[in-house]
Order: sequence, then structure tokens, then C-alpha cells
Amino acid sequence: MRLFKKVMAVGLASTMVLSMAACGGGSTETTAAATTAAQTEAKAEETKATEAAETTAAAAAEATSDFDASNVKVGISIYKFDDNFMTLYRTELERYLVDDLGFSKDNITIQDGKGDQAEQSNQIDNFITSGVDVLILNLVQASSAPQITDKCKEAGIPVVYINREPDAEEEERWASEGINATYVGCDARQSGTFQGEEILETSNKGDINGDGKVSYIMIQGDPENVDAQYRTEFSVKALTDAGVEVNELFKQRGDWDQAKGQQLTQDALTQFGEEVEVVFCNNDAMALGALQAIEAAGRKVNEDIYLVGVDALTEAVQNVLDGKMTGTVFNDHIAQAKSAADIAVMYLKGEAVDPVNMVDYRKVTTENAQEVLDALK
Ligand code: GAL
Repeated sequence: MRLFKKVMAVGLASTMVLSMAACGGGSTETTAAATTAAQTEAKAEETKATEAAETTAAAAAEATSDFDASNVKVGISIYKFDDNFMTLYRTELERYLVDDLGFSKDNITIQDGKGDQAEQSNQIDNFITSGVDVLILNLVQASSAPQITDKCKEAGIPVVYINREPDAEEEERWASEGINATYVGCDARQSGTFQGEEILETSNKGDINGDGKVSYIMIQGDPENVDAQYRTEFSVKALTDAGVEVNELFKQRGDWDQAKGQQLTQDALTQFGEEVEVVFCNNDAMALGALQAIEAAGRKVNEDIYLVGVDALTEAVQNVLDGKMTGTVFNDHIAQAKSAADIAVMYLKGEAVDPVNMVDYRKVTTENAQEVLDALK
């Protein structure tokens, strides 16, 4: 908001200068003289602005070099360690904090929330009592954010929420009450839309049997999670927005888990057989499970069934390359970890932080799978 005001003020000032120049009348000579004077003045202003910008940049550089991360204590809690994607994320987060930002590994504590909000809340209480300087939290239940935020606020500890987005009302509260809390993640609507587009990009737009509609099954993550809700909704919306008729045969929660993804897909294939044309999975772990069930049922991806996931786990990207998955979507854990850590540092330096910080997803199809695979190494 503060930034917006500043931009507005600068915008208004330049509009005023422009309109003042435009209003100037008089003879051609006077106008020419006025123009030269205005140009000289503008040049002087420009030089002043450049100098000011240089001073600010120098100050920022000095502040960065002054910042000593080595004694800063960081508390990190992951909703559960037993999650493929969050394991990649947590590994990258720790690596970036230590290798790139100079935090000491001994000052970083990472706890396993074990999928239990009560347990995770206890861990967070302990972090607060032990006097950590900043918290990076991947909540078990995003709905616990208000209580946890209040505790952190009282203790004067800034908090960076990651991966599981608290609701908009809570995020607005941080901004309106000036609370040092923020969210770093991705807009899950985008990942759902990309999944739908990957189906639309196939030769028959997902309608393998040519009956005029796309019959699909939906394997969902944890439905309390906005990622699961949006991916479910927007993958199908991409089809209907493109004028494609859809037919939902089956929708069940697989809680982001490979074994559950396999079981559910097996159940759906047993029940609906050939009718199933598309398998939408809210993440890659479940898509890997779905692929096991698809192969066990003697079906062939990209020939008699389509399969899409989200995350870009190495194995899934390899499957895309090998034609065993139609596509996936890169849930960029590298950029998200970097952003979360950089924002934690901004808090530590007393800088202003936006309440919501989004990183883009990226579509992964056979065309770019090799490139994505190389980037993941
Ligand atoms: C999603 C990710 C899932 C799972 C989930 C946990 O963004 O796609 O694989 O890790 O976060 O909240």
C-alpha cells in the first residue's frame, strides 16, 4: 500500500509537469526559451534523481553486506516430512539459507508436523519460547493461521507461511494491522488451468472415444487445502471454458499420497473401465500411483488414456519424456524456497514485506520435459 501511494505521488508530479508544459502559451521565441529552460531543469532533475538512486542502491548494498546471518535462529516447521514435494522444498530451503545466505546450519531447526496440527502447534510454541528470530511455517491446517500469527506477533517474531495458504481475510488482516506475517506460494488456479490445457493440447482434446465429451476421474489432494480445491476446479474449468463437454465419473481424496492414488485409480478403472479417458491427479505422487494402476489394467497413456499431475517430481518429468504421463506442472520449489528465505531476511533487516508473494507455475510437456529435468538436477 505504502509503495502504491509513492508510485501514485510520483505519477501525479510528472503529470503536473507535463500539463504545465502543455499549458504554456506565448510567442514561438518565448516558447523555445521556455523549452530550453525546461529541458535544462529536467536534465538537472534527472541528474539529481540518478544520484539519489545511486545513493539508495549503495545504502541497500551496504545494509546487505552489514547483515550477518550467522547468528540468526530460524525455526521451520513442515506439515509432514513424509511428502515428496515438501521434502524437495525443505531440502532446498535449508541449502539456500546455509549456502547462499550464510545462515549457520546449527541455528536452523526443522520440525516434522507429522500431519497433526496439535503437535505442530506445540512445536511452534517451543520455537517461540526458545527465542527464534524468524519462523518459516508450512501449516498442517492453514485455518490455524490466525491463532498462530497472534502468538508470533505477541512474541515479536515475524512469520513466513509457505505452501498452504491461509485465507484471504487473514492475509488482509496482516496488512491492515501491520502484522509481520506473509505468505509465499503459488496460485493453484494456474496449475489447474495448465493441467486442463495439457489435455486440450492432445490430438483429440481428451475425447479419446469420440463420444463428444471428456470422461474423467479426479484424484484429489487433501481437500482442506486450497491447492487441492483449485486444481480440481480449474483443470475442468479449462475444458469447459474451451467449450468441451465433460463427464465426471469419479472424485475421491488421495491426500497427496502415491499409494492412495494407486488404489483410487484402480478402483475407478475397475468400476468404469474403458469409459475413463482422463485421469486428473492434484499432484505427481498420486499420478505416479495412478500410472501403476493404469499399467496394471493394461491401459496405455497417450493412446487410450491421458494422465496429468502437478509438481514436476523428477520421476514424473521422466515419465512425461517417456510418454507415460501426458504432462505435469512445475511447482517451483526452488523459486519458492528462495523467495521464502529472502523474505525472512527482509523481516530481519526491518524491511517492509507484501502480505502475499506468488511464484509462477510452469507447464511441463514432452516439448520442454528434458529442459525441466536438467534444471532439476
Ligand atoms: C502441494 C503439492 C503437493 C503437496 C502439498 C502439500 O502444493 O503439489 O504435492 O506437497 O502441496 O501441502
